[in-house]
Amino acid sequence: MRAGDLPAVVMIERTSFTSPWTSEMLAAEMDAEFGWSTVATDARGDVAGFLMGRRYPDMWHVLDLAVSVAHRRQGVARGLVREFLQAADGAGRPVLLEARENNAGAVALYESEGFVALSVRKGYYGDTGENALVMVREAGGGVHRGRSDRGLGGPVLAIESSCDDTAAAVIAPGGQILSSVSHSQDAIHERYGGVVPEVASRAHVERLSAVVSEALREADCRVDDLSGVAVTVGPGLIGALLVGVQTAKAIAWSKRLPLFPVNHLHGHLAAAWLGGLQTPYPMITLVASGGHTMLVRVDDRVTFKLLGQTLDDAAGEAFDKGARLLGLGYPGGRELDELAERGDASRYSFPVGLKRSTLPNFSFSGVKTALYYLLRGMSTEERAANAPHIAASYREAIVSALVTKTLRAARQEGAATIAITGGVAANSLLRRRLAEEGKKARVHVVLPRLSYCTDNAAMIGAAALAGPRLDYPEYMDLDASASLPLGRWLPEATIRP
Ligand code: KG4
Ligand code: ZN
Repeated sequence: MRAGDLPAVVMIERTSFTSPWTSEMLAAEMDAEFGWSTVATDARGDVAGFLMGRRYPDMWHVLDLAVSVAHRRQGVARGLVREFLQAADGAGRPVLLEARENNAGAVALYESEGFVALSVRKGYYGDTGENALVMVREAGGGVHRGRSDRGLGGPVLAIESSCDDTAAAVIAPGGQILSSVSHSQDAIHERYGGVVPEVASRAHVERLSAVVSEALREADCRVDDLSGVAVTVGPGLIGALLVGVQTAKAIAWSKRLPLFPVNHLHGHLAAAWLGGLQTPYPMITLVASGGHTMLVRVDDRVTFKLLGQTLDDAAGEAFDKGARLLGLGYPGGRELDELAERGDASRYSFPVGLKRSTLPNFSFSGVKTALYYLLRGMSTEERAANAPHIAASYREAIVSALVTKTLRAARQEGAATIAITGGVAANSLLRRRLAEEGKKARVHVVLPRLSYCTDNAAMIGAAALAGPRLDYPEYMDLDASASLPLGRWLPEATIRP
């Protein structure tokens, strides 16, 4: 950008933004330390758009990008972004930017150029109070890909404490699982018939350091050998998450190690590639647990799209509530599954939620209500005599919904692979049915080991190797988020301008 371009740049800035930078600000930016600015010109040599950025030593930053009204929709913005990215790639630097969260066009442009959303800055734009989406792109465009190749010298300790499993694992930089230790709190919550958040947090506090020590011992690894610490930052029970996050921060801080914040749902997706499993993409992953039931299109280890989810209960919740009505153990999914193995599924007919809907959503509240009324109309003897058949018919309705919707999504998305994770992936009928149907549909079916389907820390470590990294001391005020959506790695306001 030359000084002569300034008047045109000022005009474009004014016509593009409600609170534009002033001419002085733009002029100062042209000469700023680490500054980098460029203009795009049309065939007549007129300025069509401009980009201003900074080349900080560790990371490049896009500050301002605008295209003149007459030149919009001609790929000018993309050309400017590419020029900046090419230079950043040449320097081997990641690129960071803020986009208006509601500016779908800009967000889509950046995503297609390899940026991923990292966090949200609430009310960042003073003019409208709009949120900013902080987006980042790794050098070379390999969005956080191949983290393992980027200088991790030693193994990573991973911690998971989002719900009622206290778990730790040690993962080698190449993704091999060196240890995975999990302590279930089922026995603690059994008497309440559900997870009690405060009790869960306290149990995490009591167990986590022993679980971490055990994971390190099994991996024959000391804290001094670690090259980073990964931890689930959400979604989950806030108190439970905080125990893991604070522990991870303390361990990372003590050795000035980097910290990898992990989205629990990204972790569940990672179960499909744990231990170096290679399967063709696109992949449709069914995440079915006690808290979630969702279908996700996975294009690689960091690119995924939520296709649909349950509108009410999660599949695991439906199993657990059914088990409770049938007087089985806690949480009950496994017990109901075992009982169903001895029953005849054609004896009773339960409603299959959203059977006729072509949308990739689920509903499990109807099946549970149907079970309640069926049992209410039976004598104790009748119930006892038919329990296996009732369980089998109930399981059939849930599994049928899961399998039908998963295969439909796979067809619609042209998937090469189907994967299933989350505790419900342990269900024996679901595993059999998916394997059969997948074979018929000629797609690969990934059924991860059961210990990697239920909440565990190995999957968190695997997701961390594909996710963002916060170097010391960036993570000192890292927070947990109870409602972190899939596709976000960091709770809001973790990274400050
Ligand atoms: O993923 P997970 O360990 O924890 C959550 O994040 O919720 O999943 C636990 C859920 C429970 O609802 C449990 O009953 C269910 O998975 N589950 C099963 C089976 N084994 C565990 N559901 C059906 N059949 C099973 N064999
Ligand atoms: Zn889970």
